[in-house]
Amino acid sequence: ETKPRIPVIWMHGLECTCCTESFIRSAHPLAKDVILSMISLDYDDTIMAAAGHQAEAILQETRQKHKGGYILAVEGNPPLNEDGMFCIDGGRPFVERLKEMASDSLAVIAWGSCASWGCVQAAKPNPTQAVPIDKVIRDKPIIKVPGCPPIAEVMTGVISYVLMFGTLPELDRQGRPKMFYSQRIHDKCYRRPHFDAGQFVEAWDDEGARKGYCLYKMGCKGPTTYNACSTTRWNGGVSFPIQSGHGCIGCSEDGFWDQGSFYDRL
Ligand code: SF4
Ligand code: SF4
Ligand code: F3S
Repeated sequence: ETKPRIPVIWMHGLECTCCTESFIRSAHPLAKDVILSMISLDYDDTIMAAAGHQAEAILQETRQKHKGGYILAVEGNPPLNEDGMFCIDGGRPFVERLKEMASDSLAVIAWGSCASWGCVQAAKPNPTQAVPIDKVIRDKPIIKVPGCPPIAEVMTGVISYVLMFGTLPELDRQGRPKMFYSQRIHDKCYRRPHFDAGQFVEAWDDEGARKGYCLYKMGCKGPTTYNACSTTRWNGGVSFPIQSGHGCIGCSEDGFWDQGSFYDRL
């Protein structure tokens, strides 16, 4: 209670804002408690009241005042084509500002598959040459929290861990926190007994679908997807894609847009 709250700068590059949409729905802890009691969210151009020059002044002030001591949270990614002109933020290419803010940060969090891997804007043919943030930030520790979007409680869980223990969570070889990304959806899926028994959905709305059989033959990517959906679930633990009747599309995996996760014909 007496510790000063750690400053956080939350920047947005090429993205859809659903990582923020997910974050604000965290139930454990509540997003409001994270923002109002746990961290000092000094800059977030999506949800802050300030705009324009006022917001820019806050950004620079936070950077100067907390040099080397703030966490840089990044949603989205920088496009490199045409000198970064496809994403202009505060009148300058986002890639420049991202590098600048990262250089004075303590550590960086890559929210979602955009910041972690590139996601939809980096899908072939990637006209803007969008890249994951670790391609341009080379000298800071980066925690990757992939998912499109990531689970709200995974996002707030990562922040809580850093605040509680004063260090970064243990990461895997790809930079993801092991506590949330060390198991595949398939490992803890409640439909797994049907997979083991060879009971599969063969067509949408067939008898197997009505009985809740395994969705592997309908393209479920659970066996190759590392995420916490089958344990943590979504919406405060209520459900997750497979529970609502559709296979996992592997949204937390690198390059999932180019790996056959979607229907290519109707
Ligand atoms: Fe949106 Fe997905 Fe990117 Fe998050 S990772 S900003 S949900 S496109
Ligand atoms: Fe595995 Fe998907 Fe089947 Fe679940 S529905 S058991 S994740 S293949
Ligand atoms: Fe994404 Fe698969 Fe979870 S599609 S939300 S990783 S079940």
